[in-house]
Amino acid sequence: MTLTTLAQAVYVIAALLFILSLAGLSRQTSAKRGVNLGILGMGLALVATIMLAVDTSHRPVGVTLALIIGVLAVGGAIGAWRARTVEMTQMPELIAVLHCFVGLAAVAVGYNSYITERAERAAGGTVHLIEVFLGILIGAVTFTGSIVAFLKLSAKIKSSPVMIPGRNWLNLGALVVSFALLGWFLATPKHGFPPLILMTVIALLLGVHMVAAIGGGDMPVVVSILNSYSGWAAAAAGFMLGNDLLIITGALVGSSGAILSYIMCKAMNRSFISVILGGFGADDGAAAPGAGSAQPEGEHHEITASEVADLLKESSSVIITPGYGMAVAKAQYPVAELTARLREMGITVRFGVHPVAGRLPGHMNVLLAEAKVPYDIVLEMDEINDDFPSTDVVLVIGANDTVNPAALDDPSSPIAGMPVLTVWEAKHVIVFKRSMAVGYAGVQNPLFFKENTAMLFGDAKKMTEAILADL
Ligand code: TAP
Repeated sequence: MTLTTLAQAVYVIAALLFILSLAGLSRQTSAKRGVNLGILGMGLALVATIMLAVDTSHRPVGVTLALIIGVLAVGGAIGAWRARTVEMTQMPELIAVLHCFVGLAAVAVGYNSYITERAERAAGGTVHLIEVFLGILIGAVTFTGSIVAFLKLSAKIKSSPVMIPGRNWLNLGALVVSFALLGWFLATPKHGFPPLILMTVIALLLGVHMVAAIGGGDMPVVVSILNSYSGWAAAAAGFMLGNDLLIITGALVGSSGAILSYIMCKAMNRSFISVILGGFGADDGAAAPGAGSAQPEGEHHEITASEVADLLKESSSVIITPGYGMAVAKAQYPVAELTARLREMGITVRFGVHPVAGRLPGHMNVLLAEAKVPYDIVLEMDEINDDFPSTDVVLVIGANDTVNPAALDDPSSPIAGMPVLTVWEAKHVIVFKRSMAVGYAGVQNPLFFKENTAMLFGDAKKMTEAILADL
């Protein structure tokens, strides 16, 4: 058996491990196993790739190995450093940056493949030329789209949508011109650089434009769509390189990203198409996120930590709805302690988690699991929304947009139609936050001014610890 055949066999095993890994990741209880299977699959894939490189390279084995080990050491060191230093709240930004690398790699592989594989070009390998063209197109859109997503998520540029007049026509025009360029490219395969470079420039601009047009509230879906694009870019690179594992992995990432985007769109009551086309929330006279509607409306009531402790002592059922603020304050540990204490006191405590609470899918579930909150009391929005009317106290810990009644009552709100946790139906609502500032979507929250709502101002961690001390 040659090294190449052995590598192909290892690729099949790695592909199976990736599929099992995804299956494991679908449930919190098996997620750790899923991650481990993924790591094992990736380890095997790396070994097989090195075997392939050694077997097929024209260079001396030592040089090939030295080159691979060199780049692995640099990439691995940077990856390990980032993974250690990144805050949970910066995860979406990191993911956006990683997607941009996948896009860039697909562009590089495409050009490399076109430049080096002249024999196939001469033989008129049309299928291969289409792979190269599409790989570069998807890669370039993913590359610049992910950079803009990173800049928006890290607040380096404004997250409000950039609306160019006739933007949908511009996008459509870019695609039509790209397909015309594909025709030119296929017609002159030996002199294909002009159409290839023109298409790359158009695709780079298209990536910037598409993501710039998407408003802050829809960014979670965008990250997930870019995740899907990066998968398709990797699959395209797999076709160009004739690498089956890359095709399988790319297709897994591409399709799971697309399914996740669809689920998130449903959770936010957005149509998939309108998110992709961008500018949602800025059309039809509705205010763009951050505009107009950020003004306070009416009076709010304040409460102290010891008053909250008294209220909790008298209650029999409590629901905690965490949000981004809990992550920022790292309040999940005292929140888990508070939960345990209340449960010891015979009070029913459950968590209501909104699908887009925080800054990435599953953000709250990860934090609560980290703090050892039992899985069975952490419920999805749909599972808990009917229970608020029979609940004594709701603790809204650092959540804002996900508990905003304007999403249901105010058709002109930028978040109109987004399903929310109906916390205001409970007897008492306590909102933990530091000020009256708005949340991610930049809209004021009428919940704060309701009769049964009281504001507990301060850092969520300190406030939870103060309540614990009082209990
Ligand atoms: P947000 O609406 O962003 O509200 C977070 C709240 O936490 C703010 O009102 C903030 O108020 C408070 N806060 C911040 N630091 C705090 C601290 N140290 N202590 C106490 N409170 C603190 O959060 P959410 O309800 O979780 O909603 C998520 C939003 O992010 C949605 O609009 C969603 O679309 C968007 N988004 C979600 C994702 C995903 S996939 N989950 C990804 C990107 C964006 P103060 O500043 O007054 O303290």
